[in-house]
Amino acid sequence: MAQTLTVRDDRTGKEYTLPIEDGALRATELSRIKTGPDDGGLVSYDPGFVNTASCKSKVTYIDGDRGILRYRGYPIEELAEKSTYLETAYLIVKGELPTTSHLAMWQHNITMHTMVHESLKNFMQGFRYDAHPMGMLVGTVGALSTFYPDARDVMDLESRRVQTRRLIGKMPTIAAFAYRNSRGLPYVYPDNDLSYTGNFLAMLFKMTELKYKPNPVLEQALDLLFILHADHEQNCSSTAARVVGSALADPYSVVAAAAAALSGPRHGGANEEVVHMLRQIGSTKNIPDLIKQVKAGERRLMGFGHRVYKNYDPRAKIIKEAAYQVFEVTGKSPLIDVALELEKIALDDEYFVKRRLYPNVDFYSGIIYDAMGFPVEMFPVLFAIPRTSGWMAQWAEMVLDEEQRIARPKQVYTGHAERAYLPLDARRDVGPSETEVSGSL
Ligand code: CMC
Repeated sequence: MAQTLTVRDDRTGKEYTLPIEDGALRATELSRIKTGPDDGGLVSYDPGFVNTASCKSKVTYIDGDRGILRYRGYPIEELAEKSTYLETAYLIVKGELPTTSHLAMWQHNITMHTMVHESLKNFMQGFRYDAHPMGMLVGTVGALSTFYPDARDVMDLESRRVQTRRLIGKMPTIAAFAYRNSRGLPYVYPDNDLSYTGNFLAMLFKMTELKYKPNPVLEQALDLLFILHADHEQNCSSTAARVVGSALADPYSVVAAAAAALSGPRHGGANEEVVHMLRQIGSTKNIPDLIKQVKAGERRLMGFGHRVYKNYDPRAKIIKEAAYQVFEVTGKSPLIDVALELEKIALDDEYFVKRRLYPNVDFYSGIIYDAMGFPVEMFPVLFAIPRTSGWMAQWAEMVLDEEQRIARPKQVYTGHAERAYLPLDARRDVGPSETEVSGSL
């Protein structure tokens, strides 16, 4: 089969044969299609990158139609059953599962980086008492770059490795400090005798006891959720990481930018919105009203729909099952019955069926976090901790990719043609409605 695409430009009658590589057309090939020497050439227009591959990647594979997710070739279901978050993070970052000695070394290296500088703790204490923990996380991770100037040497392998360990090690500490700040509680320093998630729970919930003993079921459930959130190929936050990283910014700035993208309600902030929505529904009898509002386009069903999955999100399936193990410790969440009924009604409804809208990872994760006692503001933070390994893997891959250049998309200019500057007294007032139409502020 020929690996080319032949197109005819009806403006000029010219034919072009464009090469296809790995099922993709290089967008720069389109620039050969011109109407004349002054024409800059055809560009592809793709707001939201709906059908644009921005990179080649070996990290994560998703088949959205079949509901398949694999990290470095390993199915998510198998990793969820057999792996741990730190082992999965190693796999994602380094490309292979670790041997026993490599895993021990990796765990040691991450654990040795859980502490943060006292000045960083003081920095965090400067946030207002009611600061959103995700805002604190974004700001504090950005501030980390000032503590590690060596991180700017992004082309140095050893530097990339050290910053990766630091970031994976310190994210739970910063996240827990953000939580303690919101509760007016003193910060708890890391306990390196505990597992990654056990230590995180200790830093969050330790009170006056000398040694915090995490509940093993909750520790494991959190570890499972961390595995499921570790990477998801070119989503909004990974793309933000790659775009910022393409300017050769240091990895702390890269992760701060990625976390900022994650905080939005259409991305990692959705788990927060799901719980707000379920609480607002309150009882299954109110579901039909909500569905009516969604179908009228007045609101979205949070935790539903995905750009890539046009089938049940495989992560949501695993989380739904894990929820019941958590409930055995915490007691059943009153939100679960509303969620199950909502899912049932939505999956039967023509609106959702036609648009192939299924529950995504955020639909059930928030219910588990809620049952475990996390305030909703912490949910996106809980997403950011494990996603750090994915961001670092995506960033490192981008840094080493010889085809990558600074991210700088084109635009299709639709503004004014050249016009003459008007003196102040000759200008007319532009009312708010006109401003809205023009899309300006
Ligand atoms: N509720 C109701 N309708 C929806 C929803 C929803 N949650 N999601 C999409 N639609 C409709 C949308 O109105 C549109 O309908 P129409 O064709 O009539 O205009 C159609 O489905 C396609 O939607 P879209 O906005 O073009 O799809 P997208 O791929 O740009 O957006 C999404 C994907 C995840 C942003 C969107 O589905 C959404 O807003 N979902 C709710 C927020 C959410 O749960 N986000 C978490 C995503 S998973 C975790 C992560 O990766 O962050």
